[in-house]
Amino acid sequence: MKRYSIACVPGDGIGREVVPAARKVLDAAGKRFDASFAFTDFEWGSEYYFRHGVMMPVDALERLRTHDAILLGAVGHPDIPDHITLNGLLLPIRRGLDLYANVRPAVLYEGVVSPLAGYAAGAIDLVIVRENTEGEYAPAGGFVHHHHPAEVAVQTAVFTRHGCERVIRFAFDLARRRAKKGRVTSITKSNAQGYGMVLWDRIFREVAEEYDGIETESLLVDAAAMEFVRRPESFDVVVASNLFGDILSDLAAAVTGSIGLAPSANLDPARQSPSLFEPVHGSAPNIAGQGLANPLAAILAAAMMTEHLEERGLADAIETAVRAALISGAALTRDLGGAASTASATAAVIAALR
Ligand code: NAD
Ligand code: IPM
Ligand code: MN
Repeated sequence: MKRYSIACVPGDGIGREVVPAARKVLDAAGKRFDASFAFTDFEWGSEYYFRHGVMMPVDALERLRTHDAILLGAVGHPDIPDHITLNGLLLPIRRGLDLYANVRPAVLYEGVVSPLAGYAAGAIDLVIVRENTEGEYAPAGGFVHHHHPAEVAVQTAVFTRHGCERVIRFAFDLARRRAKKGRVTSITKSNAQGYGMVLWDRIFREVAEEYDGIETESLLVDAAAMEFVRRPESFDVVVASNLFGDILSDLAAAVTGSIGLAPSANLDPARQSPSLFEPVHGSAPNIAGQGLANPLAAILAAAMMTEHLEERGLADAIETAVRAALISGAALTRDLGGAASTASATAAVIAALR
């Protein structure tokens, strides 16, 4: 039997509801595929912050590194400024482990209704590859004359050739592997941001030369937002900077039904560090603790984790069970127009595994 060591960071809010749901599905699916998961819980996050004044201990990355993969819920608490919680936990993990490719699929599943008229199941099937270690999220900047009348804030975006090239190449490699048509769309704002994004565009054209047979398209982010609504079916692999990939992934989630269905993989393709799997959504304090959270994003993230662990059969089984539970209606939580709870939706997926 294959045994995997998984670091769990449920975090805050509904993260504490959806990570346990994903674990239950992993345990149930593992039994069928002769695999087991040894979970180690790390109680880092906002409660940890209230007790210790930091979101995670100084040796957090070293402790994560000893595991095969990381399953994370969400981070964010109404009583702590978001820049403290996120810059104290999730963002330093993504950067510190060099998880440079943030892969965010958006699929319109059967049984789910898109807010866009006329889209049938399967009609939308795209994946956003978001640069995850630099760009607009680079921790470069600072305050001058902080809290004085003349205060100034400088926030610098950082685009390196190394950083752009590796994530763009990852997107092309992914397009080659996908069953779809083999198309990569690059998204920037190089008409206004005349340095970093101009470099990105140039590197995109250079890398594209190496990939025969893959169609390419380059869009400005404002037009891309429009096209995600107007012609979402035309997108296959979309590669974007850290901030643009973030914004477009909520939009892609919405047009495919709900952010409660959107999983993500933060990958170190070189496999030097454990990769991190999480839902795209946040801690949703407005519904936390009520059993209303849709667990499917976390469950699909767990499926992406098993795929990364090269347990293809297991990954397919979980995805197939999610599809079946959506079609039957048993996994339709409130965000999807149904009445399922976190627990009943999870149970429906587990039942569909058998
Ligand atoms: P959010 O994703 O938490 O919630 C946005 C909306 O979507 C809310 O109405 C929420 O109820 C709904 N929603 C989200 N996930 C859902 C699910 N699984 N099932 C049903 N409904 C769901 O975004 P927000 O409100 O902007 O942020 C809340 C907090 O989460 C903030 O502190 C923010 O910084 C943080 N956040 C963290 C992450 C992360 O840890 N990866 C991601 C996004 C936001
Ligand atoms: C996401 C989240 C995070 C991000 C926030 C919470 C820092 O929105 O994972 O999409 O922007 O990366
Ligand atoms: Mn986001």
